[in-house]
Amino acid sequence: MFISKNLNINKKGNLEIGNVDTIDLVNEYKTPLYVMDEDVIRENCRSFKASIEKYYGDGLVCYASKTFCCKEMCRIINDEGLGLDISSGGELHTAMSVNFPPEKLVFHGNNKTEQELKLALDYGVGRIVVDNFDELSLLTRLANEMNKTANIMLRIKPGVDANTHNFIMTGQIDSKFGLALETGEAFAAAKLAIESDNINLRGFHCHIGSQIFDIEPFALAAKVMLLFTAKVKNELDYEIHDLNLGGGFGIRYTLDQEQKPNEAYMERVSEVVKDKCKQLDIRLPFILLEPGRSIAGPAGITLYKVGSVKKIPDVRTYVSVDGGMTDNPRYALYGAKYEMLLANKANLPKEREVTVAGKCCESGDLLGENVKIQEVETGDILAVLATGAYNYSMASNYNRIPRAAVVMVSKGKARTIVKRESYDDLIRNDV
Ligand code: LLP
Repeated sequence: MFISKNLNINKKGNLEIGNVDTIDLVNEYKTPLYVMDEDVIRENCRSFKASIEKYYGDGLVCYASKTFCCKEMCRIINDEGLGLDISSGGELHTAMSVNFPPEKLVFHGNNKTEQELKLALDYGVGRIVVDNFDELSLLTRLANEMNKTANIMLRIKPGVDANTHNFIMTGQIDSKFGLALETGEAFAAAKLAIESDNINLRGFHCHIGSQIFDIEPFALAAKVMLLFTAKVKNELDYEIHDLNLGGGFGIRYTLDQEQKPNEAYMERVSEVVKDKCKQLDIRLPFILLEPGRSIAGPAGITLYKVGSVKKIPDVRTYVSVDGGMTDNPRYALYGAKYEMLLANKANLPKEREVTVAGKCCESGDLLGENVKIQEVETGDILAVLATGAYNYSMASNYNRIPRAAVVMVSKGKARTIVKRESYDDLIRNDV
């Protein structure tokens, strides 16, 4: 009945997550509230890790921390033996604050600053993914000055057109990310990296987009990357060690969507990589994967209190909640659809079609339109499902609304992992 199997309805008719009553959570931690299920996160980490071991061999799953990043999440990821994809000095700092092993960090970004690169070199980040020539020369200079070796990968645009939302498509030629193959840019960068002092080229990286259900674009991207690997081997006499195939695996947001099991991706891609390596006479690379959404997304829900219920006859009913685009900007940005229900009436049929609005001074501050929920009144608790990815991490303080707390549940117990912001937090840096 629900999109996630960790959700159920208890005897009181309330929604439970990880065997914790969401209404108890609201009473204790207030709203809006992000709730993450630790067991789901750990299960997803394990299944991706196991899929490499089962179908391929050598590799490392690096959780994309942009999806949901805080100290406790970094601790859990480390505890599960995964690596971490970071894409800013702030994510690096968070990882460092819990002593995340530097060799398991992969540092992304199309415009890393000198300060960020220095921090990465200082901490000994295992793989800095170089996006462009300017970055390669900056990093070479910094590594020389600091007398360090920069371990790098090059971000390549495999030109694969994945069937996803335009705003989050990154694997095409017209993308701000990475080096193009067809113009010779990627090859020239590889040559330069190989020849540069203090640069150790570990391999190549690609990421073709996000929320992709079809596995074939990933298989195609892997083939393209291996063809490039063979070209570099044959023409530059240099064989890379790592192949990072990025993330992007789609998750179920609504009941009509079908999510593939986490193992399905490596099952298919291993086959392609093994065949292609044999055919091209190159060694099997160490594979890195960077799932983000598929690890954290299904683990989370958001709980809100319903304020006003405004019925506009023959038009629509606006149900306003105490959060909105500040804690989940994805409907406003991408028109992203979510499954919703009233957590305190979870056993009742969903008979009302409503528009769920946030509390910001902005007409576009909506969480969904034409959403089916139970008969609704002021004081009800609205649960939005599968909000574990790109919600907390994309939250803002628009209208000076404090960011919501994040509570982690596991086996019937709850604990705060990110405190709710206070009004004083909002003026802390004001001068
Ligand atoms: N690796 C790289 C280099 C990435 O850029 C991303 C996501 C990932 C891995 C993880 O992708 P995932 O497995 O989570 O799909 N804010 C958008 C999503 C942007 C994705 C950016 N890059 C959203 O809310 O849908």
